[in-house]
Amino acid sequence: MSDKPQTVNHLAIIMDGNGRWAQSRGLERTAGHRAGADNVLEIMRAAKEFNIKYLTLYAFSTENWKRPAAEVGALMKLLQEFLFKQLPAMQKENVRLNAIGRLNDLPEAARLSLLGAMKATENNTGGVLTLALNYGGRAEIVDAAKKLIQAVKNGKIDPEKLEEKSFGEFLYDPRLPDPDLVIRTSGELRISNFLLWEMAYSELYISDVMWPDFDRQELAKALESYQNRNRRFGGVGKK
Ligand code: FPP
Repeated sequence: MSDKPQTVNHLAIIMDGNGRWAQSRGLERTAGHRAGADNVLEIMRAAKEFNIKYLTLYAFSTENWKRPAAEVGALMKLLQEFLFKQLPAMQKENVRLNAIGRLNDLPEAARLSLLGAMKATENNTGGVLTLALNYGGRAEIVDAAKKLIQAVKNGKIDPEKLEEKSFGEFLYDPRLPDPDLVIRTSGELRISNFLLWEMAYSELYISDVMWPDFDRQELAKALESYQNRNRRFGGVGKK
């Protein structure tokens, strides 16, 4: 191993456990989502402090529509509140808000708030906070394939010359580097359709802590664990 500590440039998080956090306190599940949304800013600030340039959070999956309508509605409302309340903090931290997913299928009010906050922060250069919203890893690959087929039909790409890198250009945000580290909170050992293409060689870290309690100190533990990994990308790795 080299003696230079390896840094996390892109951290992605599956924010799980809001419901159990609330239930263990005798609260409604939506209270857990609210506490979870409040935690986003804390982790965004901590990530900046740890020099993480890209932070991507799984906020709403393509499968989350199966939840009771009241819970889906509460999550969408929380998203709007989050964008309204935390926009000044994002500006102060010089963070650019970004989003990936089937954004056109979000409820109109949430979609417009999102686009507004993205526009307002588009020139910020201090970090990128990407919210995965109505996001599914398989949906992203299907959507990329559709765009690719269109590009082939328009004669813009020769299918014989397609490679992993050029396929990657059709993903929701080709500017995002692959995540170095993916954290899942609340102890579940699943990927849950998150960043399937992008996390091919990401390091994984599972924390037993529920998302609303996952604080700066817990993040520091995850980063410490990452420091001790030997990333081989399928090769023999560093000596
Ligand atoms: C999982 O908890 C979490 C979600 C389904 C969505 C994550 C949403 C937030 C953190 C709040 C909104 C986010 C923003 C950016 C405004 P769960 O309900 O699956 O928990 P459980 O597994 O304990 O039931």
